[in-house]
Amino acid sequence: MVELIIKRQDGERLWSEKFTIEEKPGMTVLEALFYVQERIDGSLCFRYSCRGAVCGSCAMLINKIPRLACRTQISDVKDEVVDEPKDGVASVKPPGRAEGKNEVLIEPLPNLNVIRDLIVDMDDFYKLVDSIKPWINTDMNSNQKETSIDPSVQLQMERYTNCILCATCHGSCPAASRNKKYLGPASLAKAWRFYIDPRSREEDKDELLKLLDSDSGVWGCDVVYKCVSVCPKKVTPTTAILELREKIER
Ligand code: FES
Repeated sequence: MVELIIKRQDGERLWSEKFTIEEKPGMTVLEALFYVQERIDGSLCFRYSCRGAVCGSCAMLINKIPRLACRTQISDVKDEVVDEPKDGVASVKPPGRAEGKNEVLIEPLPNLNVIRDLIVDMDDFYKLVDSIKPWINTDMNSNQKETSIDPSVQLQMERYTNCILCATCHGSCPAASRNKKYLGPASLAKAWRFYIDPRSREEDKDELLKLLDSDSGVWGCDVVYKCVSVCPKKVTPTTAILELREKIER
């Protein structure tokens, strides 16, 4: 048996609740939440969609580390020692294991408003991503039918297009916790992805650098690589931020 300690809230109350579940081989944290919802307390709220680490909907804080619930197995986390993060935001690695602990702490993702229980409001996060205009403007009068992209550039871009906008990076970011206007790791990684895209127009790239040249942009980052550590898709926002800083300084 495993105990889930779930931080809950309903707009009026904030409380922690303990649920004892029967662990099945290969059970994920998402499946454990279903167990609670279907057999113990139908009012427990959490978000999910694909159940396969593709949609990014199920990001939450598991033992103080931002992770995808559908990709995290109970057996991997039930004996983890929980680390109280020094900056109060999120940990990136468990400090060790305590065999037989059989307990998992589950909380909503930090740095976003909670709607209910484990569901956070993603609107602010999506607005930050939208603010960098993550699209390519094309010249409608051009006769050019297609643009071939060098495979090495394609590979470089792929490191950033793999982002599933789950906001685990945002939940781990100390700068995002201090400054709600800070664009955050996901937006800045996306900005770099569009900056290096050979289809982006020079004037758009210049405008992008101007937008990012502030304390709410690339200069707000603490360069602590927490976002890199927690990304389930191995995206490296800090690297993108450092590249953008270099472009601005040139
Ligand atoms: S449910 Fe889609 S990423 Fe977890």
